Amino acid sequence: MSSHVSTLSKEEITLWAYRLEHKRPEEILAWAVETFGDQIVLASSFGSEDVVLIDMLHKVAPQTSVFYLDTNKHFSETYETRDRLAERYGKRFIQVLPKLTLEEQANQYGDELWKRDPNQCCQIRKVEPLTEILSRYRAWITGIRRDQAPTRANAQKIEWDNKFQLVKFNPLASWTYEDVWSYIRANDVPYNPLHDQYYPSIGCDVCTRQVKPGEDPRAGRWSGFAKTECGLHK
Ligand code: ADX
Repeated sequence: MSSHVSTLSKEEITLWAYRLEHKRPEEILAWAVETFGDQIVLASSFGSEDVVLIDMLHKVAPQTSVFYLDTNKHFSETYETRDRLAERYGKRFIQVLPKLTLEEQANQYGDELWKRDPNQCCQIRKVEPLTEILSRYRAWITGIRRDQAPTRANAQKIEWDNKFQLVKFNPLASWTYEDVWSYIRANDVPYNPLHDQYYPSIGCDVCTRQVKPGEDPRAGRWSGFAKTECGLHK
């Protein structure tokens, strides 16, 4: 039996949100792992925020599990970044696959579902697998930041995730884009080379494009659709 808490009440979470608000991300991570033990997991897409968290976890709690939702449609650069991180930190990342292969999805829903119904595609390839893996944990850690999108402006350092029914930590919630990149440079953290080619936010290759100067950093995600979130964070 683990001696860690099974969960926190809504009142405790609110209290801790106040207490953790001005703590450094490393302190938040250390507290989170101390509190939840092997019942906590980091969600990583190997984007800039996530590589920061992987580096920090390596320093404060290297045994913590890290998973990635493998949609089978990531850029080759993303898979290469995963491999470079695995080597640098001596870490095995948990691969979470959708129930349907790309071929099965094409048979059931038609070819290139992402072009016709990206919501349905995200549901099958990201949200459902996420629901499955999170059901095995009491808390998860994400790289979301408040200034990434209006939908994220109220993200707390610790909050109750109503959608997935577990505690959610967003240790970088108050960080800026500059904070993220200063950390990556100062600590020489491996990162996705697409970030150097005008891809500030990276999802699947079929649904992510470069952004133009002055465009919103998330403008390259699901461009052409009235869609800004895939359903992981709302
Ligand atoms: S998304 O919802 O629009 O795709 P975004 O790319 O901004 O999210 O990433 C925000 C956070 O969601 C990441 O820091 C990470 O914690 C989690 N996340 C996003 N995509 C994945 C993925 N493929 N696998 C695991 N976690 C992910």
